[in-house]
Amino acid sequence: MYYQGLINKYRAFLPVSDKTPVITLNEGNTPLIKAEKLAEKIGADFEIYLKFDGCNPTGSFKDRGMTLAVSKAKESGSGAIICASTGNTSASAAAYGAKAGLKTFVIVPDGLVAPSKLSQALMYGAEIISVQGSFDRAFDFVKQICEKYPITLVNSLNQNRIEGQKTGAFEIIEALDDAPDYHFVPVGNAGNMAAYWKGYKEFFDLNKSKKLPEMIGIQAKGCAPIVEGRIIENPDTLATAIRVGNPASWQSALKAKDESNGAIDCVSDEEIISAYKLIASSEGVFAEPSSASSVAGMIKLKNQIKSGSKVICVLTGNGLKDSDSALKFANSKIKKCPANIDEILKVMDI
Ligand code: F0G
Repeated sequence: MYYQGLINKYRAFLPVSDKTPVITLNEGNTPLIKAEKLAEKIGADFEIYLKFDGCNPTGSFKDRGMTLAVSKAKESGSGAIICASTGNTSASAAAYGAKAGLKTFVIVPDGLVAPSKLSQALMYGAEIISVQGSFDRAFDFVKQICEKYPITLVNSLNQNRIEGQKTGAFEIIEALDDAPDYHFVPVGNAGNMAAYWKGYKEFFDLNKSKKLPEMIGIQAKGCAPIVEGRIIENPDTLATAIRVGNPASWQSALKAKDESNGAIDCVSDEEIISAYKLIASSEGVFAEPSSASSVAGMIKLKNQIKSGSKVICVLTGNGLKDSDSALKFANSKIKKCPANIDEILKVMDI
């Protein structure tokens, strides 16, 4: 059957009615990839699955929430949407805003967003405002603007974002015929951890799964406010997508952790880059560095994972979002060579 996006697929579980205009780019339905080589390489005695949400239309999981947030904005008669972003939310908001015919404003921290993400928002026609300071500062401006003007906020404080994102859990349960035992997810503004937990609980309550996973959120060491229990004023990590010093959904993420008997931990930039390279070279899955923090966290905590269990690592964004990091960290290097068959064969060393 022709797949028409997650609102159409999961309509019964989402706050929509026949009157809601469905603004979709056919998001969702992303691959769940069994990572056997990765498991072998790290010596895991459990099954690892990569939920590759970087395969969404704008290259990140944000599309799951944005289809609903923008559809509801359109339904309410709003003429404009706004978000602060480390890049992916802005790309997604701009795409769905374009499709819906809504004016889209995005406020980003100057110099701290991967250029490909900005190029997306530009192409979709958003108004991009780049301000000095962190994501948290940009987010403060956005909240102030929304208090005074009739513009719909599409950051994950907007509950429709969480509702849309919970469908990732539905897809995992349907693919595995049950919930996994552990669910690793990168944590930035912390909405996605809360959203997945909501999705797992809802399907469990409907008897669509027999168990609930332990939710394990992973932050970057240089920006781990929830792990440290304090706002981080000057976050420092190369995982720019999750560089959030004062997460909006802090309490919801803690609740997900507590209710699921899970954890929130952090990994260093070195561990993130190592996982980033490992999933690409062993599984053929190219995710952006921030995404790889879920895998880095799983590797860090692997001795605490029960043998034989099923483990999900969510890969939230596509590697193409940040080609600068790939060119910088890849083990392979481009070899320049004169346009001559003998020279080429020499380089090939065969
Ligand atoms: N992974 C990627 C690739 C992200 O872009 C983000 C968040 C996260 C993980 C963390 O998800 O915020 O729900 O905890 N990016 C936001 C943005 C902050 O503006 O694009 P979260």
